[in-house]
Amino acid sequence: IKYTAIVLAAGQGKRMNAGENKQFIKLLDKPLIIHTLAIFDKDDWCESIVLVANPKEIDRIKELLTEYQLEKQVILVNGGKERQDSVRNGVHNISNKNSIVFIHDGARPFVQQMHLHRLAEVASEKGAALLAVPVTDTIKQKTAATLTTLDRSILWAAQTPQAFQYHVIFKAHERAADDQFIGTDDASLVERLGEKVEVVRGSYDNIKLTTPEDLQRATTYLQNKEGE
Ligand code: CTP
Ligand code: MG
Repeated sequence: IKYTAIVLAAGQGKRMNAGENKQFIKLLDKPLIIHTLAIFDKDDWCESIVLVANPKEIDRIKELLTEYQLEKQVILVNGGKERQDSVRNGVHNISNKNSIVFIHDGARPFVQQMHLHRLAEVASEKGAALLAVPVTDTIKQKTAATLTTLDRSILWAAQTPQAFQYHVIFKAHERAADDQFIGTDDASLVERLGEKVEVVRGSYDNIKLTTPEDLQRATTYLQNKEGE
């Protein structure tokens, strides 16, 4: 199975509070976005990488791609205001429409190849799939008047990559745009069309680096991996 990876790096990283887009933060001397791109560059199942970046940061990104010898493998496209706009532009720039489309946060540098392959298999067979892990916290639903406890045994925390047959994700994004619907992930755009999305169990290590606390955890994870 072959897939195309859309890697998202066009956010601002506000919650990271680093004074710049968190994609440029160095983890063990290498920028976060390079760690993420390297996973796809190493995977034989990945036939193409579409990197979605902020137009104002394209020059800086190009320099990094050259420095880490990734410029030949990566197609750069412009991001948009919301994450969903960035994804949509990525989808519009996929050349092989027979390839499975992976959508991945540039801020998730620890996804494992075995999970990528499992995800590709399921998306190829069923049309749509995402990596997720069972929720470990007890989740409460709170309104002004009530507090209730959700049934944890059926709750999953969604991750990326999320993977789709091209026509499935293309249609989902066009419909969302027509309806001015903004979802918090790409699978939700497919779900709202009444189509089934499969869950592939991933790893708790596949965190999204969101706040400064995540950086320490990420560094520890990388150090342990290097020591293996
Ligand atoms: N992203 C994007 N285009 C946007 C917004 C987000 O490509 N308009 C990307 C981010 O670069 C990130 C991923 O989507 O890799 C997940 O988003 P998030 O973790 O929210 O990152 P940011 O939006 O950069 O961070 P914040 O919300 O704290 O500003
Ligand atoms: Mg964001």
